[in-house]
Amino acid sequence: MIGRLNHIAIAVPDLGKAAALYRDTMGARVSDPVPQPAHGVTVVFVELPNTKIELLHPLGEKSPIANFLARNADGGIHHVCYEVEDIYQARDQLKAKGARVLGDGEPKIGAHDKPVLFLHPKDFNGTLIEIEQV
Ligand code: CO
Repeated sequence: MIGRLNHIAIAVPDLGKAAALYRDTMGARVSDPVPQPAHGVTVVFVELPNTKIELLHPLGEKSPIANFLARNADGGIHHVCYEVEDIYQARDQLKAKGARVLGDGEPKIGAHDKPVLFLHPKDFNGTLIEIEQV
């Protein structure tokens, strides 16, 4: 069911430092910061040959990553995103196998303007999983 790794999202306490680390120390191609108010984050996209890294920093009062950064002051991997062809079919299969889908279970339009769902980390080895229909 799952396809390519779309991205790994890393929550960071200092977006400028994190972008410089990937650009200058690691030699990667990084974007300018992209504010995404609807998602409560500012994102720097790191383009790798086979996938992307998304450096996330809280934006606004109700950022979904604020609590994560409060618990992980140095930052850390927040979620991994796998591509699926049909998000409803994927959701129904996952639920039938006992995996918990977060929220109301209905796909939302994610940061790439495509439908996404998040899966409970306790059902996936402590890792928050995003699935995105591509
Ligand atoms: Co994501």
